[in-house]
Amino acid sequence: MRSQLFAKKRLDVLLGEMEGEQRLRRVLGPVTLTSLGVGAIIGTGIFVLTGVAAHDKTGPALALSFVAAGITCIFAALCYAEFASMVPVAGSAFTYAYATLGELFAWIIGWDLVLEYAVGAATVAHGWSHYFQDFITLFGIRLAHALTNAPFDFNPVTGRLAATGTIIDLPAIVIAVIITAVLVIGIKESASFNAAMVIVKLVVVLFVIVVGAFYVDPRNWQPFAPYGMTGVSFFGHTLFGQTGKGGEPLGMLAGAAVIFFAYIGFDSVSTHAEEARNPRRDVPIGIITSLVLCTLLYISVAAILTGMVRYDRINIDAPVSDAFKQVGLPWAQFLISLGALTGITSVLLVMMLSQPRVLLAMARDGLLPYGFFGAVHERFRTPWKSTILTGIFVGLMAAFVPLRILAELVNIGTLLAFLIVCAAVLIMRRTHPDAERPFRAPFVPLVPILGIASCLLLMFSLPAENWWRLIIWLLLGFVIYFGYGRRHSHLTFPAEARKVVSAR
Ligand code: ALA
Repeated sequence: MRSQLFAKKRLDVLLGEMEGEQRLRRVLGPVTLTSLGVGAIIGTGIFVLTGVAAHDKTGPALALSFVAAGITCIFAALCYAEFASMVPVAGSAFTYAYATLGELFAWIIGWDLVLEYAVGAATVAHGWSHYFQDFITLFGIRLAHALTNAPFDFNPVTGRLAATGTIIDLPAIVIAVIITAVLVIGIKESASFNAAMVIVKLVVVLFVIVVGAFYVDPRNWQPFAPYGMTGVSFFGHTLFGQTGKGGEPLGMLAGAAVIFFAYIGFDSVSTHAEEARNPRRDVPIGIITSLVLCTLLYISVAAILTGMVRYDRINIDAPVSDAFKQVGLPWAQFLISLGALTGITSVLLVMMLSQPRVLLAMARDGLLPYGFFGAVHERFRTPWKSTILTGIFVGLMAAFVPLRILAELVNIGTLLAFLIVCAAVLIMRRTHPDAERPFRAPFVPLVPILGIASCLLLMFSLPAENWWRLIIWLLLGFVIYFGYGRRHSHLTFPAEARKVVSAR
C-alpha cells in the first residue's frame, strides 16, 4: 500500500505520452503565451482585493505587499518554468508531482488545484459582480439589495460572521452561467479574443498609473505602515505584528497574503504547454515575462491608489474606480469599470477552462472516473460534463460565500501547490540529475528553498481559520482518493488504463 501511495509516473513514460497519442495543436508562440499569462493574471486581485488589503491590513505599505507577494511568485515561477520545459504536457503541477513525489502528493496537488481554479473562479465572479454593479449605477440602475451580495460576511470589527441582509449575489451567478455556456459550446479562449481583452485591461491599468499619478497627494502616504510591516501568526497566536479584532494578523505581510491572489494565473501558462510551438523555450518565457510585467504594474497601481485616497477612505468593493470618483474624475469610472469587467471576464474564462483540463489529466491517470471527466460532447467536442459541474460549483460558491473567505481559501491552497512544485524541483534535481532541462531554475537549491520558505510565510500570514479550512478540504480529498482513485489508478491497475483507452 505504501509503495502505491508513493508510486511515481516515470519521466520517460510522460515524455512518451506526449509524443504518442496526438494531442492538441501546437500553435502558440512566446508573445501569445505571455498574453495568455497576463490574461489569466490581471483581474479581481488588483481591481478589488487591493481595497480590503489597504483598508484593513496594510495602509500605503500595500505597494510593499505587492513586492513581497511578487518575489514569492518569482521563486515559484522559476520552478514551474524548469518543470514546464522538462515535461511540457497539460496537467501542470499535478503531472510534475506525479513524476517526482508520487501518487498521493499528485492527488493532493490535483485536489488543491480545484481550490485554485474553481474556488478561484468563484472569487473572480464576485469581483466581476462588484464592478458590474458599479458600472450600472452610471446609468442610474441599481439592483435590489437582496440580490447584490452573499448572505453573510466576515466582519473584521467584531471578528464574527454577520448577515449582510442580502440573499444571493445574482450577477456573480449569472456570469458563471454565461461563461459555462460559452465553454461548453466551445468558443474557447481563442488567442485573438484573449489578446483583445488583454489590450483593454493593460490600457486601463496604464491609464490608472499615468492619470492617477497627477492626483497623488503624498500626505496620503503618511503614515506609511499604520498596521506595521509584518503580520504573521501560528494557528491564532500572533508571532509578529498587530492582531485584528477577529484575531487575524495585520500588517504588510498579512496584506501580501491577501493580494497574493492578484498574481495567481501565471502558472496557467504551463497548462498550455501541449499547445506551444516550442514549449521548452517559450513556456518559461511566457511564465516569467507575464509575471514580471504584472509585478511592475501592480506595485505602481498600489502606490498610486494609496496616494490618491487615504487608506481608510478606500472603497472596499470597487476601489480603483471609486478612487477616481473621489478625486473628481467621475467619467474615469466608466472607463475603469469597463476595463475591470473585461479583465475579470478573461480571468474567469481561463480559470473555468483550466479546471476541467486538470480534472481530465487526473481522469486520464485513473484517479477520477474517466466516463464523466473525460466525456467529450459529440457535437461541440468539449469536456462538457466536467465543465458544467465546474460551472455549478463556481455559481453556488460565488452566490452564497463571501469574497474574503473565498479569496483566502484560494490563496492558502495555491500557496501549498507552489510549495509542492518548489519541493518537486529539488527532488527531481537529485533523482534525475541528467534529465534534459532546457530551462534551469538558477541558484538551485537556494531558489526552491526560498520559494518554500516564502510560501510558508505567506500561509502563516493568513488568518488561522484558513489552515482549518485547508485541512478539511484535504481530508475531503482523501475520502475521494481512498474511496476511488487508489482503487482505479492506472499505475497500479494497468488493466483499468486499457479499458479507458478502448473507451476513448
Ligand atoms: N490573478 C487573478 C485575479 O486577480 C486570479 O483575478
